[in-house]
Amino acid sequence: MFNYRGKTALVTGASSGIGKAFARALAARGMSVILVARGEESMKALAAEITQKHQVQAHVIVADLSRENATAVVSAAVAERGLTVDLLVNNAGFMTHGPFESIDTAAEQAEVMVNVTSLVGLTHAFLPRMLSQREGGVINVASIAGFQPIPYLATYAATKAFVISFSVALYEECRGRNVCVLGLCPGNTATELFDRASAPEAALGKPRTVEQVVATALNGLDKKRSLVTDGLKNSLLTHGPRLIPRWFAARCAGQAVRPRSK
Ligand SMILES: NC(=O)c1ccc[n+]([C@@H]2O[C@H](COP(=O)([O-])OP(=O)(O)OC[C@H]3O[C@@H](n4cnc5c(N)ncnc54)[C@H](OP(=O)(O)O)[C@@H]3O)[C@@H](O)[C@H]2O)c1
Repeated sequence: MFNYRGKTALVTGASSGIGKAFARALAARGMSVILVARGEESMKALAAEITQKHQVQAHVIVADLSRENATAVVSAAVAERGLTVDLLVNNAGFMTHGPFESIDTAAEQAEVMVNVTSLVGLTHAFLPRMLSQREGGVINVASIAGFQPIPYLATYAATKAFVISFSVALYEECRGRNVCVLGLCPGNTATELFDRASAPEAALGKPRTVEQVVATALNGLDKKRSLVTDGLKNSLLTHGPRLIPRWFAARCAGQAVRPRSK
């Protein structure tokens, strides 16, 4: 069982969707929270709600994780406030959708920065202390999109494949040192992700709730798992690509999420 009470969690992407749900659930377990994203108003409102409801501290750090100096900005803000991080939830992320040649280069580079570079940077910033304390955890939000190449979501799916591989590798490095690194793979979840990307085609199947996704993650953390997929149907879906050739898995996935209006 992860030791939540009296500890501090840093949650990226805490202005919306799954990140907000993580912050609420962790505060309910007695953790102080550090909320990180660009949406200051939304995080301030969440921080006020959390402190009032759970008698824990809630801090807001406004940061754009697509910037090269994002890790330094967040680490400095945490240190300035005299805080330490016992649980890091690398949740911030977004998707680009469409034929590769039609997608804005800057948007794709920002996607890699947020989904991959800042996730690695923040892990570098906060994992070493956890290891030296022999206590802590990292939850990296990947996706079932990371289990196969996906045409029209090529960069997004590749960033999530990175997160899966990175998380399981680090889990193994940290095993036996009382620090758990968990990769979380949600499927379609009711958030703003697909609207922000103007990609309704990519939202396949009945959406799960953010509360279900977070419950799956914290259950996985408590059980010291390396990788969890949210929902039975999503779990079954992740086995498919292992049984068929990679090119065929990509072809099927591409047919499913092909843009209809682009
Ligand atoms: N919803 C799904 O179906 C689904 C499925 C699988 C995986 N996921 C993953 O779940 C995670 C959370 O997404 P969500 O579904 O909750 O979507 P969401 O409601 O759109 O939330 C995304 C969060 O990421 C933050 N973010 C995006 N760009 C950022 C940047 N440049 N700097 C800092 N923060 C940034 C956003 O904050 P600001 O805009 O305020 O900065 C927001 O808080 C993502 O990693 C996503 O890939 C979602």
